Amino acid sequence: MIEKIQELIQEIVNFEVSNAEEADQFRIKFLSRKGLLNDLFEDFKKVDNASKREVGQKLNELKSIAQSRSNEFKERFEAGSSSISKDLDLSLPSEVSELGSRHPLSLVRKEIIDIFSHIGFTVSEGPEIEDDWHNFSALNFPEEHPARDMQDTFFIEKKPDITLRTHTSSVQVRVMENQKPPIRTISPGRVFRNEAISARAHCIFHQVEGLYIDEDVSFADLKQTLMYFAKEMFGDKTKIRLRPSYFPFTEPSAEMDISCPFCAGKGCNICKGAGWVEILGCGMVDPNVLENAGIDSKKYTGFAFGMGIERITMLKYQVKDLRLFFENDVRFLNQFKSAF
Ligand code: PHE
Repeated sequence: MIEKIQELIQEIVNFEVSNAEEADQFRIKFLSRKGLLNDLFEDFKKVDNASKREVGQKLNELKSIAQSRSNEFKERFEAGSSSISKDLDLSLPSEVSELGSRHPLSLVRKEIIDIFSHIGFTVSEGPEIEDDWHNFSALNFPEEHPARDMQDTFFIEKKPDITLRTHTSSVQVRVMENQKPPIRTISPGRVFRNEAISARAHCIFHQVEGLYIDEDVSFADLKQTLMYFAKEMFGDKTKIRLRPSYFPFTEPSAEMDISCPFCAGKGCNICKGAGWVEILGCGMVDPNVLENAGIDSKKYTGFAFGMGIERITMLKYQVKDLRLFFENDVRFLNQFKSAF
């Protein structure tokens, strides 16, 4: 019997198959219920006790060889791993795939972060789904106050109000609630307003909020910081001007214009002949807002500003229609490749 087993081992070791069907035939011949190995195990019962040990070991050896050979065949012909064409030259270089480009809004967002991080501003983020307190009440928007209508809000739930944040000023409140002054941070993020989509407006857009709280922060600090930003972003010759404005959470409040980057202030169709274009809202943080967030308004003062990333990008790259930022047409996006 030992010899018979040895012969079978030889046969199995030399066995070759060339397709899945033959691999299956191998399995049936040796390993199935009616296969050769089962017959041998039947015969094994009749082996006399003296040889049982030796024959048993040999039989087990045969079984494990047959099993591993069968697995090997099976894997070889399993779907996917089958016949790679002999004509295929795997050493050839592959087709060059085109490199993508960063989205212009990401480029400008990064640039804004870089500019402010050079003067010590950190980056903070807050949730896009916001409660009434952080989006409105803590920012000094009294309930039912018409100022709430300035921002056409998307409501998720009413009473208590849960909204999509209408501005990144909500992050100001969260930062002040969680950090002690001095605070110097910017908060980039998406904001949502229920506005009709046009070349100049969208229901989703991006803002960057800035917040600076410390002892003795003055309006001059605000102006200096924004002037630095404008020159870094739009070039050294850029001028700024601040016009009085109103926001419930800042007092005094202002809007900032820069000299038109296209005509250097001479007047063109981008600035509608004015020589100036508006880029952001700003002001000194209202003492009520500081107190709402648990900061002592007798000891600390601060400034805040908020700008739209789309607006800055449109001015920087002469994009005339805001909708282009959301359509992701590669002919548009490819133009920003060199701006990496
Ligand atoms: N949150 C204001 C807006 O969305 C902008 C702003 C931010 C104004 C900070 C003043 C201070 O219009």
